[in-house]
Amino acid sequence: MTTGSLLAADLVIAVLAAAGWLGGGAASAARRRPLALGLVAFALLATLARAITIIALARAGWWFAAEKVLIAAPLSLAAVAVAGPRLLRAPGDIRSVAVPLLFAGYAASGGLLVTVLHGYPASAGVGLLAVAGVLAATTVTWRVLGARPSPTVSRAALAAAVAALVTGTGLAVTPDAVTGVAHDHGYRDARTAGEPTRRFTLTAGTATVDVSGRDVAAWAFNGQVPGPELTATVGDVLEVTLRNRNIARGVTLHWHGYDVPNSQDGVPGVTQAAVLPGQEFVYRFRADQVGTYWYHTHAASDVGVRKGLYGALVVRPAPVTGVDVTVPVHTLAGLPLPAPRVEPVEAGVRVRLRLINTDSTTHRYALAGTPFRVAAIDGSDLRNPTPLVATAVLIPAGGRYDLVFTAPATPVALSVDGREVYATGPVSAATGAWPVLDPLTYGVASPVPWARFDREFTLVLDRGLDLRGLLPRYAHTVNGAADPDIPPQVVRLGDIVKFTIVNRSQVVHPWHLHGHHVLVLTRNGRPATGSLLWLDSFDVRPGEVWEVAFRADNPGMWANHCHNLAHADAGMTLHLLYS
Ligand code: C2O
Ligand code: CU
Repeated sequence: MTTGSLLAADLVIAVLAAAGWLGGGAASAARRRPLALGLVAFALLATLARAITIIALARAGWWFAAEKVLIAAPLSLAAVAVAGPRLLRAPGDIRSVAVPLLFAGYAASGGLLVTVLHGYPASAGVGLLAVAGVLAATTVTWRVLGARPSPTVSRAALAAAVAALVTGTGLAVTPDAVTGVAHDHGYRDARTAGEPTRRFTLTAGTATVDVSGRDVAAWAFNGQVPGPELTATVGDVLEVTLRNRNIARGVTLHWHGYDVPNSQDGVPGVTQAAVLPGQEFVYRFRADQVGTYWYHTHAASDVGVRKGLYGALVVRPAPVTGVDVTVPVHTLAGLPLPAPRVEPVEAGVRVRLRLINTDSTTHRYALAGTPFRVAAIDGSDLRNPTPLVATAVLIPAGGRYDLVFTAPATPVALSVDGREVYATGPVSAATGAWPVLDPLTYGVASPVPWARFDREFTLVLDRGLDLRGLLPRYAHTVNGAADPDIPPQVVRLGDIVKFTIVNRSQVVHPWHLHGHHVLVLTRNGRPATGSLLWLDSFDVRPGEVWEVAFRADNPGMWANHCHNLAHADAGMTLHLLYS
């Protein structure tokens, strides 16, 4: 069983246990003896099963189990200890055990709520809040059911509840680290005099675009979705003028995967102000990395990118031979882009397909009709990639794969999630059952350039209740906090930095660090054995633990976030900064 499915199973079992106790309590209050006993037996079984899932999760990594071991397990033990003996004394009137059974239900629910609303890290404050809730609910139940505990017992319970509530709230809301982020604008000029300059102008505005015969209201660069493909030869200087015609929420250009100087990174509030209607901003940087990249707005990025403010950025080595096709995949108003294109290619010609996933979720790509290699991932060439046949690739949100092959005499077709997007002729192939490439074992290894790390950070990804803003929200969190309350990661120029990224949530988080490429060290404790993988976007699936590292060689303040942009907006964004 994977850790991801263990997490899901644990959640289901916790719900069943709580429901069993609560149902048993309610049934006994209604004097439905057989039903009450049946539900209690079920709750006990579920509690036992939960012991197993919690132990298994603790073995998979403390991050997955901390609050379950420290808060939920003691509460469950209390539940069994209080309810068990009273049941065993086999009361003639089943109603007399209603309060202990409901107490057990509240205790089990309290533990569950801690996992669902708070998660990692477990803290004394949160534990005390849970205890306060359980005691308060039990006291109220006592009163309501008229079970009449002695006044001393009831006063003591109430006092304990209040004390736990006060201390718990105090502990839980005290900021435990730096909150907020000092936005220091480290503008630096790309020193670019003398090189050939490629100039582009991108004007953002609302537009109606045609997607497979349908009119769609979009936000577009130069009236088209995707925006114009920006191309350069390595060594050129790119000078891109961004204008905003009428996007009220502002626009910027972020060069996704391109390690530009910080001042050109296009993150509003961090490296520049958003470009408002009528304004412009000129980006200038040297195209010194070859490969497949993309650009997109980073102002209101979730809605902005979804509505169409993105395009491809391709930097090629000097002489280009063969066929070179860019395939940016996107979902615009529920409709898939690009429209399928069919172009015959002569046998023997080298073909490079540059696949770009500009959506917020993973896509599955399958190339049928020819053996192919994955020449590059996220713009970095792989070492000795072997030919693949009948193998699919999964590209994370924001990620890019370059597939290369020599055109055979027969047609070839590329499909995305089963929909054909590019072909050299008619191909009928069932690709749905193909195995998926694991990039961590593909190509030939070289030694990892670093043996020790100057800084290590752990990012535990989850969901949780965020009460720090104006309105409470169920945020996507990092180490229990949501943007802007996630402490920044501070490094010094030249540091070798290691990140451990742990996903304890139920959804995929495509991780993306700006300004740097990270080298994948391990996934779930197993070292990467293929070609060194320098990524800027990688899927951390539920229950996964990734260790990645990079050299801090690009000073500034950099966004570090989930590239499911709805998650990024809902809290899953932090910053890396140089001291
Ligand atoms: Cu492609 Cu900060 O994003
Ligand atoms: Cu995410």
